[in-house]
Order: sequence, then C-alpha cells, then structure tokens
Amino acid sequence: MAFKNNILVCTPLECETEEEMVGSMEIAKAEGADLVELCVDSMSFSHISEVKKLIQHRTLPAIVSYRLKSSRTSGKGVSKCLCLQVLRLALEVDVEFVEMDYEVASDIIVMAEHLYGRVNSRIIVSSYVNGGKPSTEKLGHLIACMQSTGADVIKLVIDVDYITDLAPVFEMLTHCQVPLIVIAAGSRGLISQLLGPKFGGFLVYGSLECKSIPGLPTLLSIKHVYKLEHLNADTKVFGLISNPVGHSKGPILHNPAFRHSGYNGIYVPMLVDDIKEFFQTYTGTDFAGFSVGIPHKEAAVGCCDEVHPLAKSIGAVNTIVRRPIDGKLIGYNTDCEASITAIEDALRDRRLLNGEASDTSPIAGKTFVLVGAGGAGRALAFGAKSRGARVVIFNRSYERAKALADAVSGKAFPYECLERFSPEKDMILANASAIGMEPNSDQTPVSKDALRAYGLVFDAVYTPRNTRLLQEAAEIGATVVSGVEMFIRQALGQFRLFTGGLAPEDFMRKLVLEQF
Ligand SMILES: NC(=O)c1ccc[n+]([C@@H]2O[C@H](COP(=O)([O-])OP(=O)(O)OC[C@H]3O[C@@H](n4cnc5c(N)ncnc54)[C@H](OP(=O)(O)O)[C@@H]3O)[C@@H](O)[C@H]2O)c1
Repeated sequence: MAFKNNILVCTPLECETEEEMVGSMEIAKAEGADLVELCVDSMSFSHISEVKKLIQHRTLPAIVSYRLKSSRTSGKGVSKCLCLQVLRLALEVDVEFVEMDYEVASDIIVMAEHLYGRVNSRIIVSSYVNGGKPSTEKLGHLIACMQSTGADVIKLVIDVDYITDLAPVFEMLTHCQVPLIVIAAGSRGLISQLLGPKFGGFLVYGSLECKSIPGLPTLLSIKHVYKLEHLNADTKVFGLISNPVGHSKGPILHNPAFRHSGYNGIYVPMLVDDIKEFFQTYTGTDFAGFSVGIPHKEAAVGCCDEVHPLAKSIGAVNTIVRRPIDGKLIGYNTDCEASITAIEDALRDRRLLNGEASDTSPIAGKTFVLVGAGGAGRALAFGAKSRGARVVIFNRSYERAKALADAVSGKAFPYECLERFSPEKDMILANASAIGMEPNSDQTPVSKDALRAYGLVFDAVYTPRNTRLLQEAAEIGATVVSGVEMFIRQALGQFRLFTGGLAPEDFMRKLVLEQF
C-alpha cells in the first residue's frame, strides 16, 4: 500500500478483538491517519490465524507490533515464543512495518534474513527509555546500539517529567542518520509529536477523537489545526507557555492565521512548569515567540532581556518575541490595549448614537470599577489609569487589590463592599477575575440589581462567550463588551509582534466567532 503524504501520521490501535481493530482502523482512516500500529499484544486471540486475517484485511498500511514488556502485557503471561510467532507471521505476509523490542530484535532479524533472504517489511526496533532525564549522550549511545541490529527505523518511547526534557530529543531528531520516531509520553510530551516533522521525525502519532491518549494530538487536530504536512526545517515555532494549557484556543486561531498569511510558523500548547528553566533550555532562534498564560505572566518579566515600558509598569508580560538579529527576548503586554480599546470603542459607538463626539478617551474622568487583581486585572488597571479614569479595585485577596490600587493611584475596597458600591451612575465595571469562567458559568461577581449603577460592563472571561454577568448587564440595558473582543484584539497584537506583518483581521475575527 502506498502513502499519500511525505509526513506519515500513525494511530496506535490497542483493541481486544479483531472486529474492534478493524472498526478502529476505519475510524482512523476517516480521521486522516496514513497508517495504523496494530498493537497485537493488546489482543486476546485463540489462534494466530486471527492475527493473520487481521493483517491481510487491513484497510490502511500498518505497523505490526508485539511488545514483550508493556503495561498492556504485564500480567497477561506473554511469552517470547508467541511474540516471535506474531512478528514472523507479519514478516511472512509482507506487512509494511514490523516493530519489535530492542531486546529481541537481533534474533528476529537474523532469523528472518535466514528464512526469507530479503525482508520486504521495514523493521522498526523500539526501546522504552525511562528513569532520569534523557541526555543527548545517553540517547545517542542507545540509538547506535539499536541501529547495529539492522533496524530500518529506530523508535524511542520516552518518559518526560518536564517539557525541557525534550530538548535532547529534538537534537537527536535533527542529527540522527537513521529514520527516528520518538514518542514522549504524557501531556508534557505533546510537542514531541507536533514539532517532530520540523526536526526530521520519521512519523507522527495521533489519537482517535474518541480515544484520546495523553501526549498525542488527535488525528483531527493534526488534519485541521496543525496541518503538519506544511512543516519543514525553516518553520518558526510559537507557543502558549501556560499551566494548565489544555483549554487554550490559541492553536485554532494562530495556525490558520499563519497559513492564511503565507507565514511559515506553527503555534503549539506548551505545558511549562518552570518558565525560567524553559528559556534557559530553548535558546535557539527556531523558538521564535510565545504567548504567556496562567501562572507565568508576572515571572515572564524577569525572563526577558528587554521589556516594553507598558508591560514593565503593568508588571506582567503576555507576549515574548525572540528578536531575530540578536536572539534577545523582548516582552510585551497586548492584554492592556486589547481590553481598553475594546471598552473605548463600545463607549464611542454609544456616544455616536447619542449624537456626541469628542477626541478624548470616553473612559477619561469615569469611575472604573475593576474586579480582580491578577494578570488581566493589572493590565486593565494600568490601561484605565493611562486614559484618565478613577480606578477602584475589588479583589478576593484585599492585599493584592491594595497593592494594585497604590500602583495606579486608585482605591481598593474589601471585596464584600462590591455589591453595595454605588457612589455614582454610569460607571464602568470590568471583571478581570476568574468568576463566571467555565465550569462555573452560573457564577457572577455582581448581582443583577447592583449592575444598575453601571453604564458599561466588560467581562474578560471568554469561556463562555456570553457570561452570566454580560447577560444580566444587557438585560438591565447596559452596554456590554465581551472577553472575546479582548481575546481577538490581543491575538491580533501578538500576530503582528510574532510575524512583523499585518494580522489578517477579518479572517481571524471570523475564525474566532465561528469556533469559540
Ligand atoms: N479575554 C482575554 O483575552 C483574556 C486575557 C487574559 C485573561 N482573561 C481571563 O481573565 C480572568 C483572569 O485571568 P488572569 O490571567 O488575570 O488570572 P490570574 O492572574 O490567575 O488572576 C485571577 C484573578 O481571579 C481572582 N479569582 C480567582 N478565583 C476567584 C474566585 N473564586 N472568587 C473571586 N475571585 C477569584 C483572583 O483573586 P485572588 O487574587 O484573590 O486570587 C485574581 O484576581 C480569567 O478568566 C481569564 O480567562 C481573558
């Protein structure tokens, strides 16, 4: 069977029965896999002829594997004899790839060459690497030993504790003389698959939509979001540094936007535990730019070589770009302008409707009530202050509210007073706390009744799009501004910083509104 793509996407199938294997193979085919790995050790079969039937009736090219030592085989009483029987059968029927453990590889390859002369299947020799941080020396030595078995392809399955453990893996993929497959298990290993094709990996593993596997992208995300077939050695890497990172909508926005603009880049989720260590490890110009999310925005300031004055005064960086000429890391904050201009534009539209016009910011002179004093809260507080508003801050932790209020010459009040705070009419309310965010979408920071003191209500929360706060504010007739608008604007700002070019605004807006 022939392959249609230069980058192969493979789905591992672990099923008990032949029927389940065949059914899953059909799903894998429909979701875009180029080949499947039939993990025969996961099957319960009474006679080896069932395996033969499965291989002969495969609807996609396949890797036939039989692992002696794996979580699947432990306790199953797997015998080396059965393993050899399965692998020998796979070689006999000329399946595209036969995968075997390094421990048994030499025996099988010698036996197969003796029995069949030339082997038509390509042999993948695999090894599980665990126990301690992988190093280039350790991996290089292991690969050399595995290669000496006569393997056509080497496969390493690696346990990683941190995303930084993947740096030697990328180095191996770049320099290895023999085709190499690496799977780094767990969610910190995800970029080993997504960036594999850039660094020269032989194939990429993807999971079925209905059976996600930690550390593997889904086949559908490979096909529709990342489109890994476009990657090459020159592709620039961008990503969201965050923990957790799974909720991020960045990949479904930035990847299509890069392609739409003809920019050779990929944007991936990066589950980072220690941001300082991350930047000490990934120093190459290939890693060109980053969005920074929870909880790293404040620590990111200290990781940059230069910080834009606005981001410095806010004390939070949400965008980092590696300057191509000298590799220095430059930090920015696109949250601030994104949220403040969204609020200003809505107020200007309201002014126009009322037949008023003015060059000054419509926020100037207003009371700006801010809920939250985290990264987003800081951006809004400094933005409102820069436009001449009186900033009043409420936060669950009063100390944090007070510190921020002092930094913007504003006022802080205890959180319990928010509900009754009503010194004037037509104030601006901005929620920059996590209240109302999924899965707690039934919550709201201010009751509907208390909202009557506000002329405009902004919610930084964008999951869900129409929060309870915004729904109730609209019901009492306030102007509402959604966190989705802030999200779009900060992403447009990031795109410009990442690529140095204009962001395809209409395209990105349409994407967000369709997909969020
Ligand atoms: N639309 C956008 O583009 C955009 C951009 C950035 C952020 N956001 C959203 O803004 C929100 C805050 O993000 P962030 O980056 O500022 O996070 P952060 O730095 O972790 O700050 C979280 C804020 O929420 C408060 N908070 C959390 N749980 C709370 C609860 N149960 N009750 C009361 N207050 C609570 C925290 O109060 P304490 O200080 O007392 O912990 C803090 O003020 C999130 O929902 C995020 O998704 C949206």
